[in-house]
Amino acid sequence: MFNLKKSKIIKGLVGCVAIGLVSWLPGTASAGVSGPCSDCHTMHNSQNGAPMAFNNSTTPNRALTRGDCIGCHSGATALKGSNNNIPVVIRTVDPGGQGNGLTLAGGDFYWVATSGGANDTCGHNVKGVAGVDSNLGYTPPGWNATTSNGIANGAADWGTNQLTCAGTYGCHGSHTSTDNYAAIRGAHHGDNGTIDGLTTATSYRFLNGILGAEDSDWEYTVSSTDHNGYKGANGYTTSDNNTISYLCAECHGNFHASSAISNVSYQGAGASPWLRHPTDFSLGSASGAGYSAYTTYNVTAPVGAINPDTTTSVITPNSNDIVTCISCHRAHGTNHADLLRWDYSACNAGSANASCGCFACHTNKD
Ligand code: HEC
Ligand code: HEC
Ligand code: HEC
Ligand code: HEC
Ligand code: HEC
Repeated sequence: MFNLKKSKIIKGLVGCVAIGLVSWLPGTASAGVSGPCSDCHTMHNSQNGAPMAFNNSTTPNRALTRGDCIGCHSGATALKGSNNNIPVVIRTVDPGGQGNGLTLAGGDFYWVATSGGANDTCGHNVKGVAGVDSNLGYTPPGWNATTSNGIANGAADWGTNQLTCAGTYGCHGSHTSTDNYAAIRGAHHGDNGTIDGLTTATSYRFLNGILGAEDSDWEYTVSSTDHNGYKGANGYTTSDNNTISYLCAECHGNFHASSAISNVSYQGAGASPWLRHPTDFSLGSASGAGYSAYTTYNVTAPVGAINPDTTTSVITPNSNDIVTCISCHRAHGTNHADLLRWDYSACNAGSANASCGCFACHTNKD
């Protein structure tokens, strides 16, 4: 693992030790991004008369950055920058698969991107990355503006508004602004390692209000002892509006809610037999059999936790081990249909297949 953030914190501590000498340095310990301002910013987008934007465009970016969200977060490798400190989510070359250094934890937009595979089913069709989804159009499947799940994005009126990185129609940042930059303003410098969900900077991966434990290299290296910790709840109630599955439910609400919010028509009555696949529900609460054999954190089909951390390895399925939307999906995109972590068409009952994540939990269906 790279320990990027940890190494930054350590740098910060050294700075604190040397405080008598460099006490004029403001807030070094808490800076989310580090490095020369000129790595990321340009004051006029001009040097020797030539543009300084990464894509050589003469049009400047807001916040005086040298790229927009897409410009900074795309590249040939999963990490880029002088210290491998910029997480890449839109590869410019085929990653060749997911996870394990090929993509970061959220997967990659390569397969859906106009510049890559251009396969609408393989990713979220984010504006600027891909055109409008030819099967789904603008509105998220399962969109529900009126249930509790819809609250965070309840103001959204999809119409011809395409999904964006951040904002009202996006996943990251505040949902009160439709503008990517305004929605995320201050987060990059304000990320101080605290995750309390109170601001965008201190939310899990700038997902406003969502909690979790952040792996230091975004799962560039990943194993059962080195991974993100996803926040879950066992039996969703509206006080659990901080789980990773709630994030998805902000747009796909009908796929998430249970009896806890007094409408059983979504996932069902909160117990087997279910109406839709449960999320924010624990392996330990299952009445069906086979779940007790999920004993090692499985990076193909990860479980969330009520108290997530980045090193949990041993699972003794109980109320802390939670099914989440991203037990099966990756947020940005994958090389499989429906942003799935594995090829669902290769999942066959009666024949175990380690690359099919369904068997990780449904161990008695092989
Ligand atoms: C100038 C380059 C640059 C631009 C522009 C930029 N980012 Fe980033 N982004 C970075 C760097 C560097 C990091 C790593 C920061 C860190 O380690 O905390 C990062 C990290 C992130 C993360 C992960 C945060 C975490 O907790 O690990 C998210 C999410 C993100 N950016 C979203 C965005 C969005 C959305 C936009 C557009 C509004 C954007 N970025 C624009 C450089 C950029
Ligand atoms: C590694 C990339 C990176 C470096 C280095 C960097 N910035 Fe930024 N900065 C960003 C990004 C990305 C944004 C816009 C997104 C946001 O607000 O989170 C930003 C936004 C800002 C903002 C507006 C939002 C806020 O946090 O107040 C200011 C002011 C700023 N930077 C100043 C600086 C200065 C001064 C330096 C050098 C001491 C610097 N930055 C170095 C990436 C960087
Ligand atoms: C800000 C709204 C928003 C959020 C939050 C959101 N989605 Fe979506 N999602 C959409 C929209 C819009 C579509 C339909 C168009 C497209 O594919 O981009 C979609 C489509 C999908 C699809 C079908 C893709 C396809 O092309 O067949 C899946 C699967 C999906 N989302 C899963 C998730 C998961 C898992 C999460 C949480 C990590 C999530 N979504 C969070 C808006 C959102
Ligand atoms: C992270 C663990 C996990 C993964 C991965 C997973 N499931 Fe499940 N699944 C569960 C749990 C827990 C239940 C609830 C069982 C209960 O309440 O008895 C469940 C319920 C179900 C049910 C409904 C059972 C009922 O009693 O109503 C079906 C069908 C199902 N899963 C199929 C699948 C398929 C197909 C896949 C792969 C696409 C899959 N699951 C992946 C954990 C998982
Ligand atoms: C057990 C694995 C599993 C879990 C957990 C899961 N999904 Fe899915 N999802 C699938 C599969 C498989 C499909 C393909 C369609 C189908 O089988 O219904 C799919 C399809 C989708 C689609 C596309 C629907 C369409 O009309 O094209 C969306 C959107 C989606 N999932 C969102 C979510 C959200 C949001 C959550 C959490 C609330 C979630 N999924 C949890 C396995 C899962």
